[in-house]
Amino acid sequence: MDPEKYIREQARAVSAALPAAVSRLKGAEPRLAEAMAYSLAAGGKRLRPALLAASYELFGGKARDVRPAACALEMVHTYSLVHDDLPAMDDDDLRRGRPTSHRVYGEALAILAGDALLTDAFTVLLTSRYPAAVKPARLLRAASVLAVRAGARGMVSGQAADLAAEGFLDAKLTPARRRKALGLLAYIHLHKTADLITAAVEMGAALAGAPEKDFMALSAFGRELGLCFQAADDVLDVTGDKSKLGKSGSDARNRKLTYATLLGVEAAGLKAEAYLRRALASLRKVRGGRKALADLAGLAAFACRRES
Ligand code: IPE
Ligand code: IPE
Ligand code: MG
Ligand code: MG
Ligand code: MG
Repeated sequence: MDPEKYIREQARAVSAALPAAVSRLKGAEPRLAEAMAYSLAAGGKRLRPALLAASYELFGGKARDVRPAACALEMVHTYSLVHDDLPAMDDDDLRRGRPTSHRVYGEALAILAGDALLTDAFTVLLTSRYPAAVKPARLLRAASVLAVRAGARGMVSGQAADLAAEGFLDAKLTPARRRKALGLLAYIHLHKTADLITAAVEMGAALAGAPEKDFMALSAFGRELGLCFQAADDVLDVTGDKSKLGKSGSDARNRKLTYATLLGVEAAGLKAEAYLRRALASLRKVRGGRKALADLAGLAAFACRRES
């Protein structure tokens, strides 16, 4: 199967499963549940669930067996977008081709919808049914991966550093400040983006009970792919077709420190390609099913060269 088809199939399956995951949360305040469903249903590439599924399939399992975990990861990612768009953060009006959550539901409910998406990701992850092969110890490791990669040692710190670096490029860029900027960017991208992409492949490997060596190689693949993904996102913010992107591009307005604003779009694009090569080199160290390895390589190339 060609990798594009794999992405489409996994995206379709996760998009179909997500509404049920939220409607299972009986007793949720109706407007809150509506806001959660609104952001989940808005689409998106569903790259992280597809990475989780392909990583699980490397070790012989079937993607459907770990679909609740894929949904949980997409819930965490969606919460991060809802909060990222808030006026106090990137102040964006458009996401996934629709008005952002706070534009529709108001700021307070958007914050709460994000809170609930994050917390209930763990409800979905830990209270869904899995086949016997997904042993409790494996599920526990996947939950721990997700918590650590999303939390203060992971994505949230990346977001904090991203905000702190706003305006860094306003002052004159001496060689020392340029070095500082590159260090800051490495930290920001590693955490705000690469951590959740790494979580995707690590969760797949954890749920499959992968050998530790393969877990580590996949983790390195996820990190390099995450860095590639964010460099490409920085380029798209400047050059992307807004109707395909489904977001407006706000990095210049927010005076963000990005590869595109620091190095220019061409050099930022080359960075993305360099990270892709490193990701693929890490992937070559993983032993697993040939089809799933090809799917993961295809997903990586798609993430790097995407138009949205
Ligand atoms: C956007 O992620 C946020 C970043 C980490 C750059 P995606 O580009 O994966 O967003 P969706 O899920 O496809 O909307
Ligand atoms: C957001 O990075 C990363 C997270 C949501 C964790 P960006 O601010 O660059 O993402 P977009 O461009 O708004 O999607
Ligand atoms: Mg942001
Ligand atoms: Mg943003
Ligand atoms: Mg961006």
